[in-house]
Amino acid sequence: MHKKILILNGPNLNLLGEREPGQYGEISLEQLEVDLRGEFPDTELLFYQSNHEGDLVDRLHEAHRSGMDGIAFNPGAYTHTSVALRDAVKAITTPVIEVHLSNIYAREAFRHFSYLAPVCRGQISGLGITGYNLAVRWLCLSP
Ligand code: DQA
Repeated sequence: MHKKILILNGPNLNLLGEREPGQYGEISLEQLEVDLRGEFPDTELLFYQSNHEGDLVDRLHEAHRSGMDGIAFNPGAYTHTSVALRDAVKAITTPVIEVHLSNIYAREAFRHFSYLAPVCRGQISGLGITGYNLAVRWLCLSP
């Protein structure tokens, strides 16, 4: 049976490719979407990006209610600030993998802490856009 996976991106990730390319790479969010669709032709992939915390909370609830099989979530800077997103991930049964393009542990001290990591199934940090591919692969494999 084919899986339904949400790729959820938080604030500033709409600027992927143009924003700090040395840190986050030169590939745009649109290109990431095209690449992932090509890599997972048998998986139903849904993409959503928002710069607003409440929107992301709503999307997490919606993914749960609509029976999605998993979520690859890059919460951007909300990783380090958002109790609301942590509570939303904790509230739903849909497995969530936290994804970061950069290695947050090799950067400023304020990025070393993630509110979400303890309530996610796992975290991928520092592998660039490959992190999304690996998260989707794991979510597809998990029963
Ligand atoms: C990020 C890391 C965060 O610290 C930062 O605020 C981002 C992007 C990443 O993908 O490496 O916006 O989540």
